[in-house]
Amino acid sequence: MVKILMVCLGNICRSPLAHGILESKLPSDKFYVDSAGTANYHVGDSPDHRSVAVAKSHGIDISMQRGRQFKVSDFNDFDYIFTMDDSNFQNVIALARDTKDIAKVKPILEMDNQSNFSYVPDPYYGDMSDFEEVYSVLNQACEALSQQLQNVAQ
Ligand code: 4NP
Repeated sequence: MVKILMVCLGNICRSPLAHGILESKLPSDKFYVDSAGTANYHVGDSPDHRSVAVAKSHGIDISMQRGRQFKVSDFNDFDYIFTMDDSNFQNVIALARDTKDIAKVKPILEMDNQSNFSYVPDPYYGDMSDFEEVYSVLNQACEALSQQLQNVAQ
């Protein structure tokens, strides 16, 4: 099983979408996908209703996900850790114990060389159009990522 963790700040807007989108593109017998936030603000919470709605409009149900905080043992439990923006990246790297941990962490948009974005913008203080934009950025990145992951897992 290849294990992938999506990380943002709150684990209610961006990483739940990345989690649901990537999971929908990969066979569940070979890949396990999860998400977490670097902060503890929303532990136990459902994803933001706007992320739930935008995912649902694209045929993906993320309503059963619950917020959790990133923890050091995630470096043991996951093969790949993808961050949404530079702040998430720095916060995860700050918890790394060694170069093996650091090597697992990558900004998700580094996996998509066609992206017009350098990081996934935080839509929390935005409106539905910001959530649509995040969905589109993540869908394209997860499509590229799923192809790369399926190549290495073969
Ligand atoms: P996320 O968005 O990191 O994409 O889940 C946020 C969610 C909550 C907060 C900030 C960003 N907050 O400050 O509570």
